[in-house]
Amino acid sequence: MTNNNEFYQKGINITEIDTPSIIVDLDIAENNINKMQKFANENNVSMRPHSKTNKSPYWAKKQIKAGAIGICCAKLGEAEIMAENGIPEILIPNQIVGAKKINRLIQASKKSKIIIAVEDLSNVEELSKIFSENNQVLSVIIEVNVGMDRCGVELEEIVDFTKKIIDSPGLQFEGVMGYEGHTVNISDYEERVDNTTQAMNKLLNSANLLKKNGIEVNIVSACGTGTYNITGKIEGITELQCGSYIFMDGNYLKVFNDFTPALSLITTVISKRENRIVIDCGLKSVSNDQGLPDVIFPKGIKLISLSEEHCKCILETDVDIKIGDKVLVRPKHSDTTINLHENYYVHKNNKLEEVVPILGRGKFH
Ligand SMILES: Cc1ncc(COP(=O)(O)O)c(C=O)c1O
Repeated sequence: MTNNNEFYQKGINITEIDTPSIIVDLDIAENNINKMQKFANENNVSMRPHSKTNKSPYWAKKQIKAGAIGICCAKLGEAEIMAENGIPEILIPNQIVGAKKINRLIQASKKSKIIIAVEDLSNVEELSKIFSENNQVLSVIIEVNVGMDRCGVELEEIVDFTKKIIDSPGLQFEGVMGYEGHTVNISDYEERVDNTTQAMNKLLNSANLLKKNGIEVNIVSACGTGTYNITGKIEGITELQCGSYIFMDGNYLKVFNDFTPALSLITTVISKRENRIVIDCGLKSVSNDQGLPDVIFPKGIKLISLSEEHCKCILETDVDIKIGDKVLVRPKHSDTTINLHENYYVHKNNKLEEVVPILGRGKFH
């Protein structure tokens, strides 16, 4: 098992991996995948998990094996990696704008079925022109603004917009999507249900209006991890895009503990002065966009600040720790931490199983 210039034997203790590194508990991640898929099966809804979290065909293949109909990719660059690595169907719930990217999309579409989101007429015209000139057909869904006020069309626009798509050569209209990102982190359950239901009503109203106008709507796609058990039970939603559940973000634990954290960062103590230690992770190896990471082992250590390569912690109790010892840290946000690393060190009971390259890291074009 190689990691650039290092070689690791399967079965070594995870503490022998050089630090800072991302480690993933395989049993926990697979349980998370299976639990979400079981929920979807029981509620007659398909899984199309978002791979913006894991950025790796290794995990995508496990999700498909468990029963997912395909995956989502945030960026074309990530979709290209997934297509090259044999993922048969990819939804990009995002806009692909500009001839340069659309031409790349043509190439990727030769390897996998790719569906993208649209919400603007000039973008639709450009996609239609380039795809039809290349004698190819691109499947599109319309992104509806369900209250997040990010991208997406409003109800009043949708019928005319859909008719323009249907009349555009090189495009195949497949349905609608709406991401309720403004409700996924609401910690109060009743409030989360109310806000999510309102958001999904906007999406369903759009789908129903199209159907009333004689337009076939095959896909109604939505959902994040925090709303899986709300959106996933709403009649009319055909597929769920949840992604973070696979490793269960530190921040999502404030919402519920339905899934178990699988990912952490193993680090080494490089300095110790009285009740202060420094560990060898920093902003270049762990993100803090959703708050400072938590120390999960050993107990009694509090992380207080991150600079580029240093992480300062205080010892809240009399912790028996010395330079060279390992400290396990859990990021609040997996996605942005994973994007900083080349490999996952996947383990079972702390014994190394596999070194898995994060092929989609940095593929944000
Ligand atoms: C469009 C879209 N769908 C699905 C998700 C998945 O959300 P989560 O990571 O909360 O499961 C996201 C997350 O940002 C998203 O942007």
